[in-house]
Amino acid sequence: NRYLFNGKHLEQITSIGPRTVGSPENENTTVSYLLDQIEQIRSESETGPHSITVDIQRPSGCFSIGCYDRITNIAVKLQPKTSAQHFMLANCHFDSVANSPGASDDAVGCSVMLEVLHSLANLSTPLKHGVIFLFNGAEETILQASHGFITQHPWARQVRAFVNLEAAGVGGKELVFQTGPENPWLVQAYARAAVHPFATVVGQEIFQSGLIPSDTDFRIFRDFGNIPGIDLAFIENGFIYHTKYDTPGRIHTDSIQRAGDNILSVLKHLVMSDELADSSQYRHGNMVFFDLLGLTMLVYPAHVGTVINYIVAVAAVIYLSGKCLLTSSGRYMRDLVCVVCVLVLSWIFSLVTLLFVAWLVTLMGRSMFWYSHIHAAVFLYGSAAVCILLLIHTLVKNRCYRRAGRVDLAELFFDGSLLLWCFVLFFFTHRGWCSAYVPMMMVLFPLISKLLLTKLFRARGASLQYSVLYLMGLVVPYVYIMFLIRVIFEVFTPILGRSKDEIPPDIIMASLVTVATVILSSYIIHFIYLSRGTKRVLAVLGSVFMLMFVLVSCGLFFPYSADPSSPRPKRVFVQHITRSFHTLNGSLQSSDSGLCINDLDYTGMQHITPHIPQINDSISTHCQDWLSCSRQFLTSFSHCFRKSWYLPAPEVSPKAPLEVQLLSRQETQWGTVKMSFEVKGPSHMSLYLHPHAGASLSSWSFNDWNFVFYTHGLDAPVWRFWIEILVSTPQRSSCFLVFSRSSPQTCLLMRAWSLWPSLLIIYLVQTDARRRSSPS
Ligand SMILES: *[C@@H]1O[C@H](CO)[C@@H](O)[C@H](O)[C@H]1NC(C)=O
Ligand SMILES: *[C@@H]1O[C@H](CO)[C@@H](O)[C@H](O)[C@H]1NC(C)=O
Repeated sequence: NRYLFNGKHLEQITSIGPRTVGSPENENTTVSYLLDQIEQIRSESETGPHSITVDIQRPSGCFSIGCYDRITNIAVKLQPKTSAQHFMLANCHFDSVANSPGASDDAVGCSVMLEVLHSLANLSTPLKHGVIFLFNGAEETILQASHGFITQHPWARQVRAFVNLEAAGVGGKELVFQTGPENPWLVQAYARAAVHPFATVVGQEIFQSGLIPSDTDFRIFRDFGNIPGIDLAFIENGFIYHTKYDTPGRIHTDSIQRAGDNILSVLKHLVMSDELADSSQYRHGNMVFFDLLGLTMLVYPAHVGTVINYIVAVAAVIYLSGKCLLTSSGRYMRDLVCVVCVLVLSWIFSLVTLLFVAWLVTLMGRSMFWYSHIHAAVFLYGSAAVCILLLIHTLVKNRCYRRAGRVDLAELFFDGSLLLWCFVLFFFTHRGWCSAYVPMMMVLFPLISKLLLTKLFRARGASLQYSVLYLMGLVVPYVYIMFLIRVIFEVFTPILGRSKDEIPPDIIMASLVTVATVILSSYIIHFIYLSRGTKRVLAVLGSVFMLMFVLVSCGLFFPYSADPSSPRPKRVFVQHITRSFHTLNGSLQSSDSGLCINDLDYTGMQHITPHIPQINDSISTHCQDWLSCSRQFLTSFSHCFRKSWYLPAPEVSPKAPLEVQLLSRQETQWGTVKMSFEVKGPSHMSLYLHPHAGASLSSWSFNDWNFVFYTHGLDAPVWRFWIEILVSTPQRSSCFLVFSRSSPQTCLLMRAWSLWPSLLIIYLVQTDARRRSSPS
């Protein structure tokens, strides 16, 4: 009796359109839709054993670089009628970014939560504990609604653990990419209950290392609520994450059913568990967790993992030293060292070659050619990497080992690879990385199959049968690692389309392909030494590489695509702005209006300029003098760019114009000037403070930085704040409320915008083969 998730709410919520914080779509339409649905579920299950309580929270507060005022949370408490003490929290957000219907991010999450609520409320046997469903209405504004809930809502104290459903892509399977901190029982519950497990601790370690430029409510619940949880995200197709293509049509019913099955069964399991009531008892230790191709989950404590890893590594070392002792006069040792050197040199050489190719591709202006054609990258870089590895080993075989027995050589290279994986395993384990289970597999399985085969085929050496059995022994780690590599490419390729890094993305792609090739080749490279010749293979690979190189340099592979079945838009950030420059006494000096354009990937305006000649390098870096920001925000503040373009345009007429008022100005006993302001304006505002030379900000109402990001919902009161300036050069003390930084006299920059509809995003698309790209 499986619950059928149908995603009807997803259609309804996304049909409202983009739902930015503070817009009526978000604060009224979506909220009343959700309330209606919850009320229906409540009345339907009234006679059942559960009660449902709904609370609308409108929190205000400040944390980190942001402040919020009267944003919206809908909290729904489901508990047995006898009432419960301990609660699971299930979190989703219904707001979206300005230009997206936000289907995967995160209407689908809320749609699944509604159905999970329905299903649980409808159970005929009462649950042991309760569930709080949080439909949060401000996540895209740096996670403010979850902060409002966890720090201010009276129910927050009863929450013992949470499940969060998010998106870093559109559709597909939802990956458990972080759990904890500590609290092994949570991931154990997922392992036991999830119907279709998809999880890996590699995801957790990559995400928490900060390589992925995004964040989820997980951090807020963990850091401000001290609550452990499970973070799930859709990761497929990140190319269209936060774009207008994030539509319900791209999420298969299967995806919804999968996510629903998993969340429902995990929640059910957790609210029936004893651990929830007293989680402190089960608190300690990190876990190693991963699924085996969705069939089953393996979960074990990290300290057990450490023991296993060391045992496996030591076993391999014993195997190798056994061989060493069996052969006389240390020859084996010497040979092994040589082989390890050859292997490492072949890796370095192929990496260097690939980086050179990537650099050439970048120089030719064909950067990111693989963005829409990942296979092109595999063929170009992959063939080059394999080619170099083959070439080096063929040379070594023909030059250095001409007299050695082929079988012995192959054995030696196998041992060399094993030793290198052992190093990796020792290193990972020593660093305390849970991901060490991957090298562990790469040592364990080859070692076992080698030992078994040596027993079986004592004298026969390299027969076909032997090779087949050997390869079969590699199936488990190889299939697993290929699957992992696929996921890593799936996640990182789209990120290269929205990263502001200075490193050319082709360098990163080439490195990833090299690493993947090296990993996959490690236990099969020794077949070269068994084979008679590699000339033909080398010729084929060489031709593939040359052909691909020519095709890439001719520009056959255009990075972006408008193919409706899998669009790959180019990301450009465009802000339509009106700037006012004021003099020191407050009167308007000048004003202008324009589009401030920022590229979000490495190709910049290269593909746009031919079609919109006005956007060229002669107008670049124009906004920087007004939209400048301190280095420290670069990680947290997405509006800081290395390069901008400024194009004149008609004036902006926002629905809620900005009104700033100086309320009071007084000199304090401790020699500073304190000024209070009142601001009325749109839902999203940010304030930068740049004290004039000779003055400094001694304190203000906000954070430790001279920047604050402010969001409000509907019916928010005016925004009040104060600043206190320490003036060391008295004659300039009169200057503190001016609106731009570009005149030499400036001190304060005020920027305000309502994201919708004055923000617009340009997509570069390919319409047909000849007319390469046209903006739409
Ligand atoms: C569950 O909900 C359905 C309506 O969707 C209702 O027909 C059914 O009777 C409910 N079951 C229970 C056990 O309350
Ligand atoms: C570059 O842009 C400027 C301003 O939009 C324009 O005047 C100029 O003609 C453009 N240059 C080219 C080469 O198109």
